Amino acid sequence: MKFFYRFPYPRSIASGGMLFLYFASTVLSAQTQATPAESKAAAGEAVYQARCVLCHGSDGHSQTTLGKQLGALDLHSPPVQKKTDAEMKNVILHGQKNMPPFDGQITSAEVDQVISHLREFGKKKK
Ligand code: HEC
Repeated sequence: MKFFYRFPYPRSIASGGMLFLYFASTVLSAQTQATPAESKAAAGEAVYQARCVLCHGSDGHSQTTLGKQLGALDLHSPPVQKKTDAEMKNVILHGQKNMPPFDGQITSAEVDQVISHLREFGKKKK
């Protein structure tokens, strides 16, 4: 309550109300704001859903019909996850075996975002 004594305006109900609203909205927006890493992964998820699910499935296990036919790798698996971001970027941009190249179809920033999303798969056991 010490704060209210230092508040320079007359302590009318209106200003108190405004003050309350101001702080309430600051607290709320702080809680709903994602960290930069989280929003990057979220943006990457959108790219992933649009471009990668056909073969890799929304869960990343690559158990779709096409994924199985083409031999798409399980994106949760250690051999995939132990790749560096640069190595993954190279595969995504230039393709590898049956994995098609995405160079020219998605931007470099989108590749970085989608890699953050792939790292989320790595954090989950299944
Ligand atoms: C047409 C099917 C297809 C699509 C679409 C596809 N992939 Fe793949 N992906 C594959 C196949 C097949 C492999 C296995 C390649 C191999 O055996 O070297 C693979 C492998 C990978 C790997 C593992 C590479 C490695 O060597 O560890 C990553 C990472 C990957 N894909 C990411 C993506 C991302 C991100 C997208 C979307 C932007 C995507 N893929 C879209 C078929 C696809």
